[in-house]
Amino acid sequence: MKTKKKFSPAEIQALKKADQDHYFHPTSSIWVLQEKGAKIIAKGKGCKVWDVEGKEYYDATAALWYSSVGHCRPELTQTAVDQLEQLESYHSFNEFANVPAIQLAEKVSKMVPVKDARIFFTNSGSESNDTIFKMVRFYWFLKNKDSKDYIITRNRAYHGVSCGAVCATRLPGFHEGFEPRLPGFAHIELPYCYQCPWGKKVESCNLECALALEEKITELGKDKVAAFIAEPIVGTGGIIIPPPGYFEKIRQICTDNEVLFIADEVINAFGRTGKMFGIEHWEGVVPDLMTMAKGITSGYVQLGAVALSGEIFDTLKQREKFLHGFTYSGHPLACAVGLRNLEIIEDEDLPGNSEKMGRLLKEKILALNLDVIGDVRGKGLMVGVELVKNKETKEKHDPLLAPSVVDAAYEMGLITRPLIGDILQFSPPMVITESQIDDIVKLLEAAIAKALKDRE
Ligand SMILES: Cc1ncc(COP(=O)(O)O)c(C=O)c1O
Repeated sequence: MKTKKKFSPAEIQALKKADQDHYFHPTSSIWVLQEKGAKIIAKGKGCKVWDVEGKEYYDATAALWYSSVGHCRPELTQTAVDQLEQLESYHSFNEFANVPAIQLAEKVSKMVPVKDARIFFTNSGSESNDTIFKMVRFYWFLKNKDSKDYIITRNRAYHGVSCGAVCATRLPGFHEGFEPRLPGFAHIELPYCYQCPWGKKVESCNLECALALEEKITELGKDKVAAFIAEPIVGTGGIIIPPPGYFEKIRQICTDNEVLFIADEVINAFGRTGKMFGIEHWEGVVPDLMTMAKGITSGYVQLGAVALSGEIFDTLKQREKFLHGFTYSGHPLACAVGLRNLEIIEDEDLPGNSEKMGRLLKEKILALNLDVIGDVRGKGLMVGVELVKNKETKEKHDPLLAPSVVDAAYEMGLITRPLIGDILQFSPPMVITESQIDDIVKLLEAAIAKALKDRE
Protein backbone atom coordinates (compact mmCIF):
# COMPACT_ATOMS: atom_id res chain seq x y z
CA MET A 1 0.00 0.00 0.00
CA LYS A 2 1.37 3.43 -0.95
CA THR A 3 1.65 6.04 1.80
CA LYS A 4 -1.14 8.54 1.30
CA LYS A 5 -2.75 11.38 3.21
CA LYS A 6 -6.05 9.81 4.34
CA PHE A 7 -6.71 6.26 5.51
CA SER A 8 -10.08 4.58 5.82
CA PRO A 9 -10.94 2.72 9.08
CA ALA A 10 -10.48 -0.60 7.24
CA GLU A 11 -7.03 0.44 5.98
CA ILE A 12 -6.01 1.56 9.47
CA GLN A 13 -7.10 -1.75 10.91
CA ALA A 14 -5.17 -3.62 8.20
CA LEU A 15 -2.05 -1.53 8.91
CA LYS A 16 -2.25 -2.24 12.64
CA LYS A 17 -2.67 -5.95 11.97
CA ALA A 18 0.26 -5.99 9.53
CA ASP A 19 2.36 -4.19 12.13
CA GLN A 20 1.50 -6.82 14.73
CA ASP A 21 2.10 -9.69 12.33
CA HIS A 22 5.25 -8.55 10.52
CA TYR A 23 7.08 -5.64 12.12
CA PHE A 24 9.66 -6.18 14.90
CA HIS A 25 10.00 -2.72 16.46
CA PRO A 26 13.27 -1.37 17.84
CA THR A 27 13.39 -0.68 21.60
CA SER A 28 9.66 -1.17 22.14
CA SER A 29 7.39 -3.22 24.37
CA ILE A 30 6.49 -6.32 22.37
CA TRP A 31 3.66 -6.98 24.84
CA VAL A 32 2.12 -3.50 24.55
CA LEU A 33 2.32 -3.71 20.75
CA GLN A 34 0.50 -7.04 20.78
CA GLU A 35 -2.15 -5.76 23.16
CA LYS A 36 -2.77 -2.19 21.97
CA GLY A 37 -1.14 -1.95 18.54
CA ALA A 38 1.34 0.64 17.27
CA LYS A 39 0.97 4.41 17.31
CA ILE A 40 1.30 4.95 13.57
CA ILE A 41 2.50 8.41 12.61
CA ALA A 42 1.63 9.36 9.05
CA LYS A 43 2.37 13.06 8.64
CA GLY A 44 4.49 15.85 10.09
CA LYS A 45 4.81 19.61 9.84
CA GLY A 46 6.94 21.89 12.00
CA CYS A 47 6.50 20.93 15.67
CA LYS A 48 3.49 18.69 15.03
CA VAL A 49 2.77 15.21 13.72
CA TRP A 50 -0.46 13.42 12.84
CA ASP A 51 -1.29 9.74 13.21
CA VAL A 52 -3.03 7.60 10.56
CA GLU A 53 -6.38 8.45 12.13
CA GLY A 54 -5.61 12.14 11.49
CA LYS A 55 -5.18 13.06 15.17
CA GLU A 56 -2.75 15.93 15.82
CA TYR A 57 0.11 15.83 18.35
CA TYR A 58 2.78 18.20 19.57
CA ASP A 59 6.06 16.41 18.97
CA ALA A 60 7.62 17.49 22.28
CA THR A 61 10.48 15.02 21.88
CA ALA A 62 11.44 16.01 18.28
CA ALA A 63 10.98 12.30 17.50
CA LEU A 64 14.12 10.76 19.07
CA TRP A 65 15.73 14.18 19.79
CA TYR A 66 16.52 14.71 16.14
CA SER A 67 13.91 16.84 14.42
CA SER A 68 15.83 20.08 14.98
CA VAL A 69 14.50 22.23 12.12
CA GLY A 70 10.99 20.74 12.38
CA HIS A 71 9.16 18.23 10.22
CA CYS A 72 8.69 18.38 6.44
CA ARG A 73 10.50 21.55 5.46
CA PRO A 74 10.18 22.14 1.72
CA GLU A 75 13.81 23.36 1.45
CA LEU A 76 15.07 19.98 2.60
CA THR A 77 12.66 18.06 0.38
CA GLN A 78 13.88 20.09 -2.58
CA THR A 79 17.55 19.52 -1.65
CA ALA A 80 16.89 15.77 -1.45
CA VAL A 81 15.10 15.70 -4.82
CA ASP A 82 17.86 17.77 -6.48
CA GLN A 83 20.53 15.44 -5.13
CA LEU A 84 18.64 12.27 -6.13
CA GLU A 85 18.31 13.64 -9.65
CA GLN A 86 22.03 14.49 -9.82
CA LEU A 87 23.56 11.42 -8.15
CA GLU A 88 21.50 9.13 -5.94
CA SER A 89 24.51 7.42 -4.42
CA TYR A 90 28.17 6.73 -4.78
CA HIS A 91 30.57 5.27 -2.24
CA SER A 92 33.72 6.74 -0.69
CA PHE A 93 35.90 3.60 -0.53
CA ASN A 94 39.00 3.17 -2.74
CA GLU A 95 39.68 6.90 -3.02
CA PHE A 96 36.22 7.81 -4.38
CA ALA A 97 34.31 10.79 -3.06
CA ASN A 98 31.20 12.78 -3.88
CA VAL A 99 30.58 16.51 -3.81
CA PRO A 100 28.14 16.78 -0.85
CA ALA A 101 30.34 14.55 1.36
CA ILE A 102 33.35 16.80 0.76
CA GLN A 103 31.30 19.95 1.32
CA LEU A 104 29.70 18.68 4.52
CA ALA A 105 33.05 17.45 5.87
CA GLU A 106 34.51 20.91 5.26
CA LYS A 107 31.53 22.63 6.91
CA VAL A 108 31.44 20.39 10.00
CA SER A 109 35.23 20.48 10.43
CA LYS A 110 35.04 24.29 10.63
CA MET A 111 32.16 24.21 13.12
CA VAL A 112 33.35 21.64 15.70
CA PRO A 113 35.49 22.66 18.68
CA VAL A 114 38.04 19.94 17.81
CA LYS A 115 41.50 21.13 16.76
CA ASP A 116 42.19 20.88 13.01
CA ALA A 117 39.28 18.47 12.74
CA ARG A 118 38.84 15.76 10.11
CA ILE A 119 35.41 14.27 9.54
CA PHE A 120 34.56 10.58 9.06
CA PHE A 121 30.96 9.74 8.14
CA THR A 122 28.80 6.88 9.43
CA ASN A 123 25.05 6.20 9.40
CA SER A 124 24.16 6.53 13.08
CA GLY A 125 25.28 7.43 16.58
CA SER A 126 26.12 3.82 17.44
CA GLU A 127 28.27 3.45 14.33
CA SER A 128 29.99 6.73 15.18
CA ASN A 129 30.87 5.47 18.65
CA ASP A 130 32.00 2.07 17.35
CA THR A 131 34.17 3.89 14.83
CA ILE A 132 35.70 6.13 17.47
CA PHE A 133 36.51 3.21 19.79
CA LYS A 134 38.40 1.54 16.95
CA MET A 135 40.06 4.84 16.05
CA VAL A 136 41.40 5.52 19.54
CA ARG A 137 42.69 1.99 19.92
CA PHE A 138 44.38 2.16 16.50
CA TYR A 139 45.89 5.53 17.47
CA TRP A 140 47.57 4.09 20.57
CA PHE A 141 48.61 0.99 18.62
CA LEU A 142 50.42 3.21 16.11
CA LYS A 143 52.05 5.11 18.97
CA ASN A 144 53.47 1.81 20.24
CA LYS A 145 51.24 2.02 23.29
CA ASP A 146 48.83 -0.75 22.41
CA SER A 147 48.29 -1.65 26.07
CA LYS A 148 46.17 1.52 26.19
CA ASP A 149 42.87 -0.05 25.22
CA TYR A 150 40.39 0.73 28.03
CA ILE A 151 37.50 3.08 27.30
CA ILE A 152 36.11 4.70 30.44
CA THR A 153 32.44 5.60 30.39
CA ARG A 154 29.90 6.77 33.00
CA ASN A 155 26.86 5.30 34.70
CA ARG A 156 23.56 6.32 33.05
CA ALA A 157 25.39 6.89 29.76
CA TYR A 158 23.72 6.01 26.47
CA HIS A 159 26.17 5.60 23.62
CA GLY A 160 24.13 3.27 21.42
CA VAL A 161 23.36 -0.41 21.06
CA SER A 162 25.70 -1.98 18.49
CA CYS A 163 28.09 -4.54 19.96
CA GLY A 164 30.82 -1.95 20.59
CA ALA A 165 28.72 1.06 21.58
CA VAL A 166 26.52 -0.93 23.97
CA CYS A 167 29.61 -1.70 26.06
CA ALA A 168 29.87 2.01 26.78
CA THR A 169 26.13 2.33 27.45
CA ARG A 170 25.38 2.10 31.17
CA LEU A 171 21.61 1.90 31.50
CA PRO A 172 19.59 -0.92 33.02
CA GLY A 173 18.44 -3.64 30.64
CA PHE A 174 20.95 -3.07 27.86
CA HIS A 175 23.38 -5.83 28.91
CA GLU A 176 21.37 -8.60 30.57
CA GLY A 177 21.07 -11.54 28.21
CA PHE A 178 23.49 -10.04 25.68
CA GLU A 179 26.70 -11.19 27.35
CA PRO A 180 29.58 -11.56 26.84
CA ARG A 181 30.41 -7.94 26.20
CA LEU A 182 33.65 -6.77 24.63
CA PRO A 183 36.57 -6.45 27.00
CA GLY A 184 38.23 -3.11 27.71
CA PHE A 185 35.40 -0.99 29.14
CA ALA A 186 35.29 0.52 32.64
CA HIS A 187 32.98 3.04 34.21
CA ILE A 188 32.66 5.75 36.82
CA GLU A 189 29.75 7.49 38.55
CA LEU A 190 28.30 10.55 36.85
CA PRO A 191 27.67 14.07 38.16
CA TYR A 192 23.99 13.97 39.10
CA CYS A 193 23.74 17.14 41.16
CA TYR A 194 20.02 16.72 42.02
CA GLN A 195 20.90 13.61 44.01
CA CYS A 196 24.69 13.74 44.20
CA PRO A 197 26.18 10.23 44.48
CA TRP A 198 28.76 11.70 46.90
CA GLY A 199 26.03 13.34 48.99
CA LYS A 200 27.49 16.80 48.30
CA LYS A 201 25.75 20.17 47.99
CA VAL A 202 26.91 22.96 45.65
CA GLU A 203 28.74 24.65 48.56
CA SER A 204 30.63 21.50 49.57
CA CYS A 205 31.33 20.17 46.06
CA ASN A 206 34.97 19.48 45.27
CA LEU A 207 34.21 18.00 41.88
CA GLU A 208 34.44 14.49 43.31
CA CYS A 209 32.59 13.42 40.14
CA ALA A 210 35.52 14.56 37.97
CA LEU A 211 38.16 13.26 40.36
CA ALA A 212 36.49 9.84 40.01
CA LEU A 213 38.03 9.69 36.55
CA GLU A 214 41.53 10.20 37.96
CA GLU A 215 40.90 7.50 40.55
CA LYS A 216 39.72 5.06 37.87
CA ILE A 217 42.74 5.79 35.65
CA THR A 218 45.04 5.19 38.62
CA GLU A 219 43.21 1.95 39.45
CA LEU A 220 43.50 0.63 35.89
CA GLY A 221 46.96 2.12 35.26
CA LYS A 222 47.36 5.02 32.85
CA ASP A 223 49.25 2.78 30.44
CA LYS A 224 45.98 0.83 30.08
CA VAL A 225 43.54 3.65 29.35
CA ALA A 226 42.84 4.81 25.78
CA ALA A 227 39.96 7.23 26.17
CA PHE A 228 37.16 8.67 28.26
CA ILE A 229 33.75 9.18 26.64
CA ALA A 230 30.94 11.40 27.92
CA GLU A 231 27.78 13.07 26.69
CA PRO A 232 28.38 16.70 27.71
CA ILE A 233 24.71 16.91 28.70
CA VAL A 234 23.29 13.45 29.31
CA GLY A 235 20.14 12.70 27.31
CA THR A 236 18.54 9.30 27.68
CA GLY A 237 20.03 8.84 31.18
CA GLY A 238 17.78 11.66 32.42
CA ILE A 239 18.98 15.12 31.26
CA ILE A 240 21.94 15.47 33.57
CA ILE A 241 24.11 18.57 33.50
CA PRO A 242 27.54 18.41 35.11
CA PRO A 243 28.45 21.29 37.45
CA PRO A 244 30.64 24.23 36.36
CA GLY A 245 34.28 23.22 36.28
CA TYR A 246 33.52 19.53 35.63
CA PHE A 247 34.71 19.24 32.04
CA GLU A 248 37.64 21.63 32.62
CA LYS A 249 38.82 19.19 35.30
CA ILE A 250 38.08 16.15 33.10
CA ARG A 251 40.07 17.72 30.25
CA GLN A 252 43.01 18.33 32.58
CA ILE A 253 42.92 14.77 33.94
CA CYS A 254 42.80 13.34 30.41
CA THR A 255 45.73 15.49 29.27
CA ASP A 256 47.81 14.68 32.36
CA ASN A 257 47.26 10.95 31.88
CA GLU A 258 47.54 10.74 28.08
CA VAL A 259 43.89 9.72 27.79
CA LEU A 260 41.86 10.91 24.81
CA PHE A 261 38.66 12.79 25.60
CA ILE A 262 35.64 11.93 23.43
CA ALA A 263 32.52 14.13 23.53
CA ASP A 264 29.44 12.17 22.43
CA GLU A 265 27.36 14.97 20.92
CA VAL A 266 24.87 12.69 19.18
CA ILE A 267 22.00 14.53 20.92
CA ASN A 268 23.72 17.75 21.98
CA ALA A 269 25.20 18.80 18.67
CA PHE A 270 23.99 21.48 16.34
CA GLY A 271 22.21 23.81 18.70
CA ARG A 272 19.88 21.72 20.81
CA THR A 273 21.44 22.79 24.13
CA GLY A 274 21.38 26.49 23.22
CA LYS A 275 24.96 26.44 21.94
CA MET A 276 26.07 24.82 18.72
CA PHE A 277 27.80 22.03 20.72
CA GLY A 278 27.08 20.86 24.27
CA ILE A 279 30.73 20.94 25.34
CA GLU A 280 30.80 24.69 24.62
CA HIS A 281 28.92 25.24 27.89
CA TRP A 282 32.32 24.58 29.54
CA GLU A 283 34.39 27.38 28.12
CA GLY A 284 37.59 26.50 26.36
CA VAL A 285 37.22 22.73 26.76
CA VAL A 286 38.44 21.05 23.58
CA PRO A 287 37.70 17.35 23.07
CA ASP A 288 40.11 15.21 21.06
CA LEU A 289 37.25 13.52 19.25
CA MET A 290 33.53 14.05 18.91
CA THR A 291 30.62 11.91 17.71
CA MET A 292 27.52 13.34 16.05
CA ALA A 293 24.31 12.13 14.35
CA LYS A 294 20.60 13.08 14.74
CA GLY A 295 20.64 16.91 14.41
CA ILE A 296 23.24 16.79 11.63
CA THR A 297 20.37 16.14 9.18
CA SER A 298 17.45 16.76 11.59
CA GLY A 299 16.69 13.10 10.85
CA TYR A 300 15.57 13.73 7.25
CA VAL A 301 18.13 11.17 6.12
CA GLN A 302 20.17 8.97 8.44
CA LEU A 303 23.75 10.17 8.97
CA GLY A 304 26.39 10.04 11.68
CA ALA A 305 29.82 11.63 11.90
CA VAL A 306 33.06 11.51 13.83
CA ALA A 307 35.39 14.48 14.25
CA LEU A 308 38.99 13.65 15.11
CA SER A 309 41.78 16.11 15.81
CA GLY A 310 44.48 16.82 13.26
CA GLU A 311 47.02 15.25 15.63
CA ILE A 312 45.08 11.98 15.73
CA PHE A 313 44.65 12.02 11.96
CA ASP A 314 48.40 12.61 11.50
CA THR A 315 49.09 9.55 13.64
CA LEU A 316 46.59 7.41 11.70
CA LYS A 317 48.33 8.53 8.50
CA GLN A 318 51.37 6.47 9.46
CA ARG A 319 49.45 3.46 8.14
CA GLU A 320 48.38 3.47 4.53
CA LYS A 321 44.81 2.51 5.41
CA PHE A 322 42.40 2.78 8.32
CA LEU A 323 40.54 -0.39 7.39
CA HIS A 324 37.14 0.68 8.58
CA GLY A 325 34.14 2.16 6.79
CA PHE A 326 30.51 1.55 5.93
CA THR A 327 29.01 1.09 2.46
CA TYR A 328 27.02 4.28 2.97
CA SER A 329 29.69 6.38 4.75
CA GLY A 330 29.38 9.83 3.19
CA HIS A 331 26.15 9.05 1.34
CA PRO A 332 25.54 12.01 -1.01
CA LEU A 333 21.81 12.24 -0.25
CA ALA A 334 22.39 12.38 3.51
CA CYS A 335 25.31 14.81 3.14
CA ALA A 336 23.45 17.18 0.79
CA VAL A 337 20.48 17.29 3.17
CA GLY A 338 22.85 17.65 6.15
CA LEU A 339 24.57 20.62 4.55
CA ARG A 340 21.28 22.44 3.87
CA ASN A 341 20.02 21.54 7.35
CA LEU A 342 23.09 23.11 8.99
CA GLU A 343 22.62 26.24 6.88
CA ILE A 344 19.04 26.52 8.17
CA ILE A 345 20.22 26.05 11.78
CA GLU A 346 22.74 28.88 11.32
CA ASP A 347 20.58 31.23 9.21
CA GLU A 348 17.62 31.02 11.60
CA ASP A 349 19.82 31.11 14.73
CA LEU A 350 18.14 27.98 16.04
CA PRO A 351 20.68 27.58 18.89
CA GLY A 352 19.54 31.05 20.04
CA ASN A 353 15.87 30.06 19.81
CA SER A 354 16.63 26.83 21.61
CA GLU A 355 18.23 28.76 24.47
CA LYS A 356 15.33 31.21 24.72
CA MET A 357 12.49 28.71 24.35
CA GLY A 358 14.22 26.21 26.66
CA ARG A 359 14.42 28.86 29.37
CA LEU A 360 10.71 29.70 28.95
CA LEU A 361 9.76 26.03 28.95
CA LYS A 362 11.57 25.43 32.25
CA GLU A 363 10.12 28.60 33.84
CA LYS A 364 6.59 27.75 32.80
CA ILE A 365 6.76 24.14 34.00
CA LEU A 366 8.20 25.30 37.34
CA ALA A 367 5.42 27.90 37.60
CA LEU A 368 2.86 25.06 37.60
CA ASN A 369 4.17 24.52 41.12
CA LEU A 370 2.99 20.91 41.26
CA ASP A 371 3.90 18.73 44.22
CA VAL A 372 4.98 15.84 41.99
CA ILE A 373 7.51 17.92 40.03
CA GLY A 374 10.74 17.60 41.98
CA ASP A 375 13.15 19.09 39.46
CA VAL A 376 13.01 20.82 36.10
CA ARG A 377 16.41 21.01 34.48
CA GLY A 378 18.10 21.29 31.15
CA LYS A 379 20.00 23.45 28.74
CA GLY A 380 18.28 24.83 25.68
CA LEU A 381 15.64 22.45 24.42
CA MET A 382 16.93 19.43 26.32
CA VAL A 383 14.64 19.63 29.31
CA GLY A 384 13.84 16.96 31.89
CA VAL A 385 11.03 16.98 34.43
CA GLU A 386 11.76 14.68 37.36
CA LEU A 387 8.69 13.37 39.15
CA VAL A 388 8.91 12.71 42.90
CA LYS A 389 6.60 11.74 45.73
CA ASN A 390 8.04 14.26 48.13
CA LYS A 391 9.80 17.42 46.98
CA GLU A 392 11.67 17.87 50.26
CA THR A 393 13.03 14.35 50.65
CA LYS A 394 13.13 13.70 46.86
CA GLU A 395 11.53 10.32 47.60
CA LYS A 396 10.79 8.47 44.35
CA HIS A 397 7.25 8.28 43.06
CA ASP A 398 5.42 5.14 42.08
CA PRO A 399 7.48 4.15 38.97
CA LEU A 400 4.31 3.83 36.89
CA LEU A 401 3.47 7.52 37.26
CA ALA A 402 5.83 8.74 34.52
CA PRO A 403 4.54 6.21 31.92
CA SER A 404 0.96 7.07 32.96
CA VAL A 405 1.63 10.78 32.38
CA VAL A 406 3.09 9.93 28.98
CA ASP A 407 0.00 7.86 28.07
CA ALA A 408 -2.40 10.57 29.27
CA ALA A 409 -0.42 13.21 27.36
CA TYR A 410 -0.60 11.10 24.20
CA GLU A 411 -4.39 10.84 24.52
CA MET A 412 -4.49 14.64 24.83
CA GLY A 413 -2.27 15.26 21.80
CA LEU A 414 1.21 15.63 23.33
CA ILE A 415 4.15 13.30 22.71
CA THR A 416 6.66 13.06 25.55
CA ARG A 417 8.75 10.12 26.79
CA PRO A 418 9.67 8.62 30.15
CA LEU A 419 13.44 8.57 30.64
CA ILE A 420 15.22 6.47 33.22
CA GLY A 421 14.40 7.54 36.80
CA ASP A 422 10.85 8.99 36.49
CA ILE A 423 11.97 11.80 34.24
CA LEU A 424 9.90 13.17 31.37
CA GLN A 425 11.69 14.25 28.19
CA PHE A 426 10.93 17.63 26.60
CA SER A 427 13.03 18.33 23.51
CA PRO A 428 10.72 19.82 20.88
CA PRO A 429 11.96 20.96 17.47
CA MET A 430 14.21 24.01 17.78
CA VAL A 431 11.78 26.10 15.69
CA ILE A 432 9.16 26.08 18.47
CA THR A 433 7.39 29.34 19.39
CA GLU A 434 6.31 30.72 22.77
CA SER A 435 2.62 30.06 22.15
CA GLN A 436 3.43 26.43 21.29
CA ILE A 437 5.43 26.16 24.53
CA ASP A 438 2.32 27.45 26.36
CA ASP A 439 0.20 24.75 24.71
CA ILE A 440 2.69 22.05 25.67
CA VAL A 441 2.83 23.18 29.31
CA LYS A 442 -0.99 23.25 29.54
CA LEU A 443 -1.19 19.74 28.11
CA LEU A 444 1.48 18.54 30.53
CA GLU A 445 -0.46 19.97 33.49
CA ALA A 446 -3.65 18.23 32.35
CA ALA A 447 -1.81 14.95 31.71
CA ILE A 448 -0.25 14.94 35.19
CA ALA A 449 -3.67 15.63 36.76
CA LYS A 450 -5.25 12.77 34.80
CA ALA A 451 -2.42 10.33 35.56
CA LEU A 452 -2.57 11.12 39.28
CA LYS A 453 -6.34 10.64 39.28
CA ASP A 454 -6.10 7.37 37.35
CA ARG A 455 -3.54 6.05 39.83
CA GLU A 456 -5.47 7.01 42.99
C1 LIG B 1 24.30 10.26 23.22
C2 LIG B 1 23.95 9.18 22.24
N1 LIG B 1 24.93 8.50 21.64
C3 LIG B 1 24.67 7.53 20.75
C4 LIG B 1 23.38 7.21 20.41
C5 LIG B 1 23.11 6.12 19.42
O1 LIG B 1 22.62 6.65 18.26
P1 LIG B 1 21.84 5.72 17.18
O2 LIG B 1 20.53 5.37 17.79
O3 LIG B 1 21.73 6.62 15.99
O4 LIG B 1 22.70 4.55 16.92
C6 LIG B 1 22.32 7.91 20.98
C7 LIG B 1 20.93 7.62 20.64
O5 LIG B 1 19.99 8.13 21.18
C8 LIG B 1 22.61 8.91 21.94
O6 LIG B 1 21.64 9.56 22.57
